[in-house]
This record gives sequence, structure tokens and C-alpha cells, in this order.
Amino acid sequence: MNLLKSRTMNATLDLRDWLARARLAGVPFIPAEECPVELDLREEPGGPGLEELSAWTERRTKGLADEVGGAVWRWNLCAPWELKAAVSHPGLPVRVPWPKDAMGDERFRAILSEARAAGLLTLTTLVRPWIEAAEVAGLPVELRVFVSGTGASVTSYHTTRPLGDEWLPHAERAAASALKLRPWVPAVVDFSADFLVTEAGETLLLEGGPPCCYGADPCLLEPDGPFGDGRIVLG
Ligand SMILES: Nc1ncnc2c1ncn2[C@@H]1O[C@H](COP(=O)(O)OP(=O)(O)O)[C@@H](O)[C@H]1O
Ligand SMILES: [Mg+2]
Repeated sequence: MNLLKSRTMNATLDLRDWLARARLAGVPFIPAEECPVELDLREEPGGPGLEELSAWTERRTKGLADEVGGAVWRWNLCAPWELKAAVSHPGLPVRVPWPKDAMGDERFRAILSEARAAGLLTLTTLVRPWIEAAEVAGLPVELRVFVSGTGASVTSYHTTRPLGDEWLPHAERAAASALKLRPWVPAVVDFSADFLVTEAGETLLLEGGPPCCYGADPCLLEPDGPFGDGRIVLG
């Protein structure tokens, strides 16, 4: 196994870690409520544990949706494929299966096996309020920041839909937030951090993840880098 990759995965995949870092760093983020049931990643998920986790997730997602007008669940490691597909295709309804029915999701299975190989121990779900994003051409405004030892670079997340220069202040804010996270991330790790720009213009951390070439798409930046050179590419 590639040691750097395994340490990188370990330090960068779990949403719970990213939210803890955001809290410590004072970075605004989309909150999440963690399911009290944890599945052991060393075992094949299934059985009563998965049923219980799924039931909690369904109950809490519906409860939160009633309280605040909308809610969504995701694994601690990634979102279900259906959510990713819906947000990147204007007009596609968001229909996300509950965890017990989402185990067959190929994207999830691939991430799960990498996480196991990297030594992550637990699998769970988190429930988050649905935050209305600023929209351009039917797609949410989301920004991905790559942070390396030298600094940050920012790219628009949706590569098919360019953003104008009016979004530069948000990109700069996302870069500043991502750099605030750096002291809380293990020193060995370069990382990416994704931000959602809300209808009201706030820039909120969605999640963090691995650096380029370890699973994070470079989006509009050149895959060969450089990363962390202060560049902002929006279209
Ligand atoms: N709470 C939320 N409010 C609004 N949009 C969300 C929320 N959570 C996720 N999304 C949308 O779903 C996409 C995928 O969710 P994300 O948590 O980033 O999962 P992944 O790690 O699999 O990329 C995000 O890029 C965003 O467009
Ligand atoms: Mg994401």
C-alpha cells in the first residue's frame, strides 16, 4: 500500500473530522448531526446495525426537513451518487435512497474499499439542513480550494458552467477559510476543501477531501498543478 496515500486518505476522508476542524478554526460550515449508530468498517456492513442506522437516518432527515424546510443525509465518507447526480444536472429531482438501500451505490463501494484499505474504522451517516445555494444557469455555486504547503488555489466546482468575476470575492473568502483549516490538518497532508455559496452570499464549508490526484477532481485547474499558487479559475 502507498503510505502517503493511506495517510492522506486517513486524514482527509471523514466529514466528522472536517467539521471538527472547521469548528476549531472558526470557519463557517454547514452543520451536521451524526448518527449515534456506527458500523465497523472491518466487517461487511449489513444486518441489524445497518437497519438501525438507516431507520435513524430516515427519521432524523424527515424531522429536520420539517424543522428547517429541507434536509439531506450522507455517509461520513461521501454523499450517495444520486445526490451528486441531481446537483450537477439542472432539473433532476433529488431522490436519495435511504442508507440500507444505498449500499449498492458503486461510487460509495469504491470509496468504502479505499477507506478500508487506508485503515478507517467506522461508517456512519450524518444529517444536514439543506442550504439553498446561489444558482447560476440552474447549477449551485460551489468552489473547490486546493491547499498545499505554499498556499491555496481555487476553482469553480461545476466545470460545465463558467462563473463571472463577480464571484471572485467569494473565491477569495473560500481560499481564506481553507487556509484557516490548514493548522488543524496533519502536516503531511495537502488537501482540498469545498465550499457552497448560499443564496444570501455566505461561503460555507461543505466538506474537505484529499488533494489533487488522490481522488479530488482538479475541476478547472490543470491536473499537473501547480496547486497552492494563489490562482483562481472560475470559467
Ligand atoms: N446540506 C446541503 N445543502 C445544499 N447542498 C448540499 C448539501 N449537502 C450536499 N449538497 C450538494 O450535494 C453535493 C454532494 O455532497 P457532498 O457532501 O459534497 O458529497 P461528496 O463528498 O460525495 O462530494 C455537494 O457538492 C452539494 O452540491
Ligand atoms: Mg463534495
